Amino acid sequence: MKNIDSYPNTRLRRNRKKEWSRRLIQESTLSSNDLIWPIFICEGKNVKKPVKTMPGIYRYSIDRLEKLVESAMNKKIPMIALFPNTPSSKKDNKGSEALNKNNLICQALKLIKKNYKDKDIGTMCDVALDPYTNHGHDGILKNNYVDNDETIKILVKQSLLQAEMGCDVIAPSDMMDGRIGEIRKALDKNGHELVQILSYAVKYASNFYGPFRYAIGSKKSLKGDKKNYQMDFKNSREALREVALDVKEGADFVMVKPGMPYLDIIKLIRDNFKIPVFAYQVSGEYSLIKNGINNHILNEEAIIESLTSFKRAGASAVVTYFAEEVAKKLR
Ligand code: PBG
Repeated sequence: MKNIDSYPNTRLRRNRKKEWSRRLIQESTLSSNDLIWPIFICEGKNVKKPVKTMPGIYRYSIDRLEKLVESAMNKKIPMIALFPNTPSSKKDNKGSEALNKNNLICQALKLIKKNYKDKDIGTMCDVALDPYTNHGHDGILKNNYVDNDETIKILVKQSLLQAEMGCDVIAPSDMMDGRIGEIRKALDKNGHELVQILSYAVKYASNFYGPFRYAIGSKKSLKGDKKNYQMDFKNSREALREVALDVKEGADFVMVKPGMPYLDIIKLIRDNFKIPVFAYQVSGEYSLIKNGINNHILNEEAIIESLTSFKRAGASAVVTYFAEEVAKKLR
């Protein structure tokens, strides 16, 4: 049989000729429903302090949070993610501040629960100790090694505290083995069976986290690297095992992080599991693109292009520091 799918019978440029036709054949689209907006919070009153490493991003005091939540709702952003900048005076080697009922995250959750309980906005909080430890690691150190099982005990308490304060989505970002199952069990036992778990199941030991570590104040304190718990960027098969375990342990969604250098991993998980996959376009990716735009090396459309690539790869949603800016444009 003659192959008709070839030139000159077939001209793929025909479908691309007009804007309306290009619209008809679009496979992936981005909407504000796809966005999760990370927000950095800090102590003080009426603070809006620029994060030096992330142009256009600020740390806000809790009294400014309501305005941000309103903005998210107005723009139909489904969920915000809260990250605390803990003063170094409150950090210790066990990350005790993580369990303080009055820490920044708890204050923020209480405020949101009080004012927006029945409103259509979700809250997500990281479960990990790095914002609270004076060594910058995500867990408890024993002989200079992050002790898995001791760390889980604290992460379980941190999760319960956040759930009690009204957090909707608990997001363990620590990469300890077995923590999803333990957290799920504890949540269920304490009446939080409908609190969701977003597992940072596939989190690489990445060089793209630098600007974030500066933003939460863990950069200076971090001793060594996180390679004995976060994944090696040379691997992808291991990602399948991580996700398989977390699905079994009760995760509701899984995250791949960072984003753009790992589109192959998003696709791999999308093709092998039914669980929703989220991508995290991390601080280093944000700053690269933002600096490119600010220096007239890229144009602004690069933002939408980068975010649409996650959708094309199979992500259901993207955590991105561009969330507010992009949602404004998408409306
Ligand atoms: C900490 C955490 C990190 C990020 C989110 N949660 C950094 C790290 O693991 O060192 C990075 C986010 C970003 O770079 O935007 N558990």
